[in-house]
Amino acid sequence: MNLGQFPNTRLRRNRTDSWIRDLVQENHLSVKDLIWPVFVIEGKGEKQEIDSMPGVYRYSIDLLVKEVLRAERLGIPAVAIFPVIDESLKTPKAREAYSPNNLVCRTVKAIKSATKNIGVICDIALDPYTTHGHDGIVRKGYVDNDETLKVLFEQAIVCARAGCDVVAPSDMMDGRVGVIREMLDMVELENVKILAYSAKYASSFYGPFRDAIGSSKNIKSLGKETYQMNPANSDEAMREIFLDIEEGADMVMVKPGIAYLDIVRRAKDNFDIPIFAYHVSGEYAMIKAAANNGWIDGQKVMLESMISFKRAGATAILTYCAVDIAEILIK
Ligand code: PBG
Repeated sequence: MNLGQFPNTRLRRNRTDSWIRDLVQENHLSVKDLIWPVFVIEGKGEKQEIDSMPGVYRYSIDLLVKEVLRAERLGIPAVAIFPVIDESLKTPKAREAYSPNNLVCRTVKAIKSATKNIGVICDIALDPYTTHGHDGIVRKGYVDNDETLKVLFEQAIVCARAGCDVVAPSDMMDGRVGVIREMLDMVELENVKILAYSAKYASSFYGPFRDAIGSSKNIKSLGKETYQMNPANSDEAMREIFLDIEEGADMVMVKPGIAYLDIVRRAKDNFDIPIFAYHVSGEYAMIKAAANNGWIDGQKVMLESMISFKRAGATAILTYCAVDIAEILIK
């Protein structure tokens, strides 16, 4: 007799009622798992919907602070700030990126003077600030790694001095985590954390984000595949994560999310460090578009996507639906 087999074993027995399904549930989603990426624009009282991201808005600082306070009340632990920089301030070498009074720095200060109870994450990359839309400095048609590093650490320092808690290099230059760590320590900002976008792929899922920050029209001529990873690779992601940990990353990230859950799982199995995952703009937009057509239940698909991140081993999830999900979870 084989006791492990039907009819002695019936896996459906543990699915008969919701109480038993709850008891045997292996993974759980909490508000504390969520990071809310937000878009900020200049002005006062401004709120613009992003066409390719229904339900996501660009806010001026005054309105954004209110939204962030709402997120805090819902229990969301952190927000990640992305700026829409005026075209007139964009330069080939991204000067505005390290101006201490740039839009991001003013946003961080405004949030921090309103509350100390929510974490503020600043993206470190030059794409919002460059005329060409690249994350780094372009020289002879190529994004120059070491020239870019000099600007990136300056950008990290101005964000950290403005009061952000976490800097998140998303540029994929080699060596940036080490340089940023060293420079932050040098100016006695040793408690500012680094969330490294370690396994960031050259993905077409970022399209709506580029519309949101206004870089898509600039990026056309040159792709990002000379610095972001090839979507076909997985071993290489482990090397990226390993090096970022060696260089001093406090947390690492996999991006995009749903199409890369195998990378999240491998990272979780291989490294004892918090693994964050980014449910990116295109993933959000696809769900919204299908839901708005009545083809799927948008809310349920969002929740299912979130629990998939948890099952894959993600410690935290960056998602544009963080507030909506938090509202569902605390009900
Ligand atoms: C910029 C950056 C991008 C995203 C986050 N930081 C876009 C890119 O690399 O072109 C994408 C986020 C999203 O699609 O939601 N370095």
